[in-house]
Amino acid sequence: MPRAMHDVPPRLGLPNLGLGVGLRPPHYADILRHGPQVDWFEIISENFIDNHGYARHVLEQVAAQVPIVMHGVSLSIGSSDPLNLAYLRQLRQLAGEIRPAWISDHLCWTGAASLNSHDLLPLPLDEASLRHVAGRVRQVQEFLGRPLVLENPSSYVEFAQSSMPEWEFLGRLAEDTGCGLLLDVNNVHVCAHNHGYDAAHYIRQLPHAHIVQIHLAGPTVCGAVLIDTHDAPVPAAVWRLYALAQQLTGGVSALLEWDADIPPYPQLLAELGKARAAERGEIADAASAMAGAAGAVSAPLGFHLEAAHAP
Ligand SMILES: [Fe+2]
Repeated sequence: MPRAMHDVPPRLGLPNLGLGVGLRPPHYADILRHGPQVDWFEIISENFIDNHGYARHVLEQVAAQVPIVMHGVSLSIGSSDPLNLAYLRQLRQLAGEIRPAWISDHLCWTGAASLNSHDLLPLPLDEASLRHVAGRVRQVQEFLGRPLVLENPSSYVEFAQSSMPEWEFLGRLAEDTGCGLLLDVNNVHVCAHNHGYDAAHYIRQLPHAHIVQIHLAGPTVCGAVLIDTHDAPVPAAVWRLYALAQQLTGGVSALLEWDADIPPYPQLLAELGKARAAERGEIADAASAMAGAAGAVSAPLGFHLEAAHAP
């Protein structure tokens, strides 16, 4: 059975922004010339911290037209290191300047002992870990003065000591702390394939009122595993999970992630446009595109940062 909803309003009371894409340098010229042509943009927060160059100019132009969401990759909410207060101050300052609809990051750790792995690493999912992360989420929310929104990560290994499924960990974390959830349906698809569980069951068990955003993306087939590469069209299995999530939540903001082999802006918009059809049950079949996508594999975090720094 789904977990109790208590009195949480849908999306924690945050708006449904509609359909958006990541704001990426290869599309800046198109966006400045023809306008956003999407309902909202997500930015990688780190690429706009202390950045007052051309990228910030573009951001200010689009922020005057459509809502912006800040998506970070450096919070390391699961790390055993103390929270990085300098980073949190930078996030808070950026948020004060661009006034995002919300701020998100990932349920992961990115390093320990001051070493940065530049990857979004999975956590052991047990009671001690849940207490640890919940305490840090409360600290971050108090510091930022708003709910933190956390994304389910993609993963390729699991900890033997984990004592609960990821959906239970995220659900309890959200209900204990009041945080929001960014449901990446591609990551659920990737993990369900890699770890052998039912992706639809995972989505059904989450506390749906806490879900404020969905991520869509296309993974890469790499032998027996799926890798979260953000470099391909959204496969039919992910569109089906998307439709399920939109049905269960009653409608939340959705964003297409495409961070490597980035297509021209019109092609990106065409892929995003399939979302409305998927919500009506008309599922696009990108299986053939996926089957030919096996190629060079790199870390998702690397893609985020490389894409945002590309000329
Ligand atoms: Fe994502």
